[in-house]
Amino acid sequence: MCGIVGIVGDKATAKAIVEGLRRLEYRGYDSAGMVLATNVGFEVKRIAQDTSSIAALSDWVNATTNSVKLSSAMGHTRWATHGVPSEMNAHPHLDCSGQFAVVHNGIVENYKEIREQLMALGHEFASETDTEVIVHLVEERYRLNNDVREAVTEAFDELVGSMAVVVMNLKEPETFYMMRRMAPLVIGTDDSSLFVASDIPALLDGVTKYFSVPEDALITGSVRHGKVVLEPLPETLEVEWDASKVDVGGYTDFMSKEIDEQPRALSDTLAGRVDRGGLISLDELNISPEELKTIHKIVIVGCGTSLHAGMVARYALEHFVRVPVEIEVSSEFRYRDPVLSPTTLVVGVSQSGETLDTMVALSEAKASGAKTMVVSNVVGSSMARMADAVLYTRAGPEISVASTKTFIAQIGALEILALYLADLKRTLFPAEVQELISKLNEVPEAVGRAISQIQEYEKTTQALLEYQRFYFIGRNVGYPVALEGALKLKEITYTPSEGYPAGELKHGPIAMIDDKAVVVAIASKSSLYEKVLANVEEVRARGAKVVIVANEAPVDSEVRGDEVFLVPRIHQLFSPMVDVVPLQVMAHYISVSRGLDPDRPRNLAKTVTVE
Ligand code: AGP
Repeated sequence: MCGIVGIVGDKATAKAIVEGLRRLEYRGYDSAGMVLATNVGFEVKRIAQDTSSIAALSDWVNATTNSVKLSSAMGHTRWATHGVPSEMNAHPHLDCSGQFAVVHNGIVENYKEIREQLMALGHEFASETDTEVIVHLVEERYRLNNDVREAVTEAFDELVGSMAVVVMNLKEPETFYMMRRMAPLVIGTDDSSLFVASDIPALLDGVTKYFSVPEDALITGSVRHGKVVLEPLPETLEVEWDASKVDVGGYTDFMSKEIDEQPRALSDTLAGRVDRGGLISLDELNISPEELKTIHKIVIVGCGTSLHAGMVARYALEHFVRVPVEIEVSSEFRYRDPVLSPTTLVVGVSQSGETLDTMVALSEAKASGAKTMVVSNVVGSSMARMADAVLYTRAGPEISVASTKTFIAQIGALEILALYLADLKRTLFPAEVQELISKLNEVPEAVGRAISQIQEYEKTTQALLEYQRFYFIGRNVGYPVALEGALKLKEITYTPSEGYPAGELKHGPIAMIDDKAVVVAIASKSSLYEKVLANVEEVRARGAKVVIVANEAPVDSEVRGDEVFLVPRIHQLFSPMVDVVPLQVMAHYISVSRGLDPDRPRNLAKTVTVE
């Protein structure tokens, strides 16, 4: 959570900082601030205006600082952890002397002790945040050794937690001190400027080279005599995204753009995975095929939508590869004492590749000897660097807090993994693998056909606008789709909504069904179709408004007054990739109809880098 952006050199303008913050808004937006290194010192502005903090910061910039020449500038958009969202708690934070400024993403776990020690030494704190201890600690260490680099390194060594930090020193305004520990921080450069940010989209314009700040190391970045100097020189990053992909284009919001981009996200993810000889290839695999053949158990960990994608994949993995698959919420897995061995493959599914709980789950799995793999949308993300193997989804940047295209891309990538393992372990004949690959390659076009129905789905949703309680039910792969439908709706409309296995209804949840409830049933034709319809009968008999996601409308749906979302018919194990589309559209339509912002739901941030 929280977004950092900074610029040293020619391109350092307050406007560019605002633009960078806008692109990081998905990381939090309850308050924002910036520090500008002008020829008369630091100028600091902090704003806390709920979801419009960055817009207000932009107004301030336009009104006051337009023509000021800067040596450097950095900004921050916040998702509050310690201290309420307020101007006082917004970053940047300054030390007592006003010489150092700090922005920070993450949590300083030992901030209370450090704060007490520093207060005892006479430091005065202006905020309730954990972040402020960093800047006072730098000030304190600098007072003792008079060397900024040493002071920053020593301060960082004392901090416990996950964090990305940038420090500015008034006496050398053309330099940034940058560090990270289990939180993202990337550097970009062009001929005459240096950029630093929490994520690549905030760096895109004009950047020609990308670098990742290594874990637990201090990188100093300066622009001297128009030349960018990085010390030590970090590893470069290959970045394929371009600025147009993080622009809302002609759409009203990113979520609708990203829903539309789903066929492309999926086809790009599937593209080039099969060579001319029919062999499947994965991206970065530091596990040999021989080792993979010995895998006897797969554990999938993830959070939210990524967890649901993993749940979908479990059915294909068990069916095609014949290995037991466990699936668990990362935050629970990491505090268990799971039984893992070198023949266990732990797969972390994470769009951002930065979600702290999933990252720790993977690192603990690795430490206990298991093989690890991550499915991530961000090249070079922390998890991608840490895991033994990486399978990238090539969905392009996803800006809306509510995941859409990355869900479909994650399922696509995991299906590829299932087929790869089935081929390797010979649990399927090569011809069967080939047939399934061709079926999978047809899915992007089917997703496109579902998307061509968006107006129909919106018309259907009009009948649901007044309802305030939704239940989503499904069986087999329809169950994770039900969970995902409920998550989308609660995330962006704040409407109570739950997902259940359809067969579980009568064990409790059915008590909540009445004529004020909507029940959305995932009922595409499959081996369990009749059983789902039987569950639909049970809720219809209790007065619920019924909505059916189907690849063939049930014969009596019109007579009964049910609403139907029609989707294309594809292989049952792949069907979540089309079944989810009307549910995303439904949530989006209800959100917009109720005057809400689907891209920036309250209380949420896209990348959760805290526990
Ligand atoms: C999805 O709409 C949510 N924004 C959220 O559940 C998300 O999927 C979860 O936080 C996991 O994020 P990750 O994929 O980046 O790890």
